[in-house]
Amino acid sequence: MSKVTVVGAGNVGATCANVLVTTQVADEVVLLDIKEGVSEGKAMDIMQTANILGLNSRLTGVTNDYAKTENSDVVVITSGIPRKPGMTREELIGVNAGIVKSVTENVLKHSPNAIIVCVSNPMDTMTYLIHKISGLPKNRIIGMGGALDSARFKYFLCAALNANANEVEGIVIGGHGDTTMIPLTRYAAYRGIPASTLLPAEQLEKVAADTMVGGATLTKLLGTSAWYAPGAAAAQVVGAVLGDQKKLISCSALLEGEYGESDLCIGVPCILGRNGIEKIVEFDLNDEEKALFHKSAEAVHKTNAALA
Ligand code: NAI
Ligand code: 2OP
Repeated sequence: MSKVTVVGAGNVGATCANVLVTTQVADEVVLLDIKEGVSEGKAMDIMQTANILGLNSRLTGVTNDYAKTENSDVVVITSGIPRKPGMTREELIGVNAGIVKSVTENVLKHSPNAIIVCVSNPMDTMTYLIHKISGLPKNRIIGMGGALDSARFKYFLCAALNANANEVEGIVIGGHGDTTMIPLTRYAAYRGIPASTLLPAEQLEKVAADTMVGGATLTKLLGTSAWYAPGAAAAQVVGAVLGDQKKLISCSALLEGEYGESDLCIGVPCILGRNGIEKIVEFDLNDEEKALFHKSAEAVHKTNAALA
């Protein structure tokens, strides 16, 4: 029996719970929110698709009742405010740090062995905050940002190549921010063929640029930040853990010398399995990519400093 708690029944949390249940990644999902009735209502709505879709997973909604989350294998934290058009993810730190801190303390009281997936923004800094306050081993805290950014990269890549979505490869590392993420265009490929040999350089650069502002573009269109791909990307991370999939997914991980950086959480290629982050994979970056990664790390350190 696998059990997942999703904290925050807003756009991203409810979508994540919906994907977890409809793809039957977890046997039992608890959706928790501080707002009275919201998680109960969303859970009921989602579970009313069970007969239509032939689902066997169970979803329960609760208002701030952490006892119901006990013994979760994975806890996804999506609680907090999202950005509005024109806002950066970093501007959310003041409100979200308080929320993420109290939520982490509450979930660990009832699920001391859980693996935590952090979604709340600014995600790299919130992931680092969870490390600082929980003292959990580094493999058990996973920041979700790179999975989403890489999905957006592949979306723009497959549009440029007019290719099937399942036949392109692409990975984004670095901070989960408009100016800090690094779409690794050199490693982008279509069926193993480097994208750089299939697209003119300017077009590949535009794919990377569109990826970097992917979240901001949606926030402008929607009036709030996106939720379908973010919720699905969080569920993908949960699925890789519960299914012990050994999948390589870009996640925000605590670095201790990897990629030449330390004492921060930032997006790097990770092997995810039942123990959470089982390995950080060090890609062979060229000098330009190394410089971009270092610059990105400096920006994340700067945001982390605002936690003090
Ligand atoms: P939302 O406003 O739709 O939902 C947030 C939910 O958190 C609300 O229902 C609210 O009642 C709840 N909440 C607030 N404080 C709480 C507490 N103490 N305990 C339990 N629940 C609490 O926001 P949305 O769009 O779902 O975004 C959630 C967060 O995820 C934001 O910080 C957003 O920036 C971030 N995000 C991160 C992404 C990533 O790739 N890491 C992608 C998309 C969003
Ligand atoms: C996104 O990338 C804002 O982190 C959020 O959509």
